[in-house]
Amino acid sequence: MNVQMPSLKFIVLLFIVAALLLVFGVVHQAGAAERKNPNVFNRLLKPKKPFNLPPAKDGYHDPEGEGVAYLQPPKEAFKDLVPAKVGNHVDWVRSLESGKITPRYDRLDPKAKPIVMDLNIVREVKGSMPDVAYPHKQHTEWLDCSNCHPAIFIPQKGANQISMAAILMGQKCGVCHGKVAFPITAKTCRKCHSRPKGRKGKKAKAKKAASKK
Ligand code: HEC
Ligand code: HEC
Ligand code: HEC
Repeated sequence: MNVQMPSLKFIVLLFIVAALLLVFGVVHQAGAAERKNPNVFNRLLKPKKPFNLPPAKDGYHDPEGEGVAYLQPPKEAFKDLVPAKVGNHVDWVRSLESGKITPRYDRLDPKAKPIVMDLNIVREVKGSMPDVAYPHKQHTEWLDCSNCHPAIFIPQKGANQISMAAILMGQKCGVCHGKVAFPITAKTCRKCHSRPKGRKGKKAKAKKAASKK
């Protein structure tokens, strides 16, 4: 009889081990959560997320859907395109310019060509950021005038009130940038704010004009 009854010492030991495991588990989990999310309130300091995951793992497609296996994974589709550091890591403008992609302008008409308009609109920016040069050319290679005019922008220089706050809220340029076109991050400010202003800008302009003569 004595042999089958666990001793009191053994039971106390079991308790201590269980308690230690519990404490270790809680501490470990809290640590993992912290490591995963070191600074959630600062968008720019977030750790790098994996990008361009295969369709079954991207969180958009139903992994159990029948068609998912037939979709080409983006990493495979994008491997020959010009890389970029943000968004889906493709520089779509450079990919188009270098002929790596030749998108169809009209879904139903393979011969349709875009009306490309080469007109830059420079918007002077308050404060110290360089001015914004909005390029019609790179936009009208993909888009129709009616994608922007008149719903998003009145087609008249300076007629629209545009601010960074509006863009970040998904209005004006933000209707597309951050959704279907490159996002607004610390790495992309200069893509839009590309015109040096003040003395430097004027000097650069004068130099350009002089070199043309
Ligand atoms: C991606 C959006 C977008 C597309 C597409 C677009 N535009 Fe614009 N357009 C703008 C913006 C932004 C301005 C500047 C408005 C401002 O300064 O307030 C502008 C300004 C204009 C202006 C005024 C120029 C001036 O000097 O006053 C004209 C004209 C114009 N666009 C015509 C067109 C035509 C024609 C097309 C198609 C071939 C087109 N736009 C396609 C965004 C676009
Ligand atoms: C209707 C959608 C749309 C709107 C609105 C829009 N863009 Fe774009 N933009 C695009 C697309 C699409 C591209 C090409 C894909 C990319 O670069 O991500 C592009 C590319 C660009 C480029 C890159 C050109 C290059 O040489 O790499 C700049 C700069 C730019 N946009 C600035 C602006 C500014 C400034 C505004 C607001 C005044 C604006 N865009 C509004 C869709 C839009
Ligand atoms: C998609 C193009 C685009 C990108 C990317 C972008 N900006 Fe802007 N930014 C604009 C436009 C357009 C304006 C309005 C200019 C005007 O007053 O007409 C603007 C205005 C500003 C202003 C002036 C104040 C205001 O809100 O109007 C500041 C400051 C500014 N941007 C900072 C930044 C910084 C910092 C980044 C990078 C994190 C950035 N921008 C990225 C297009 C862009």
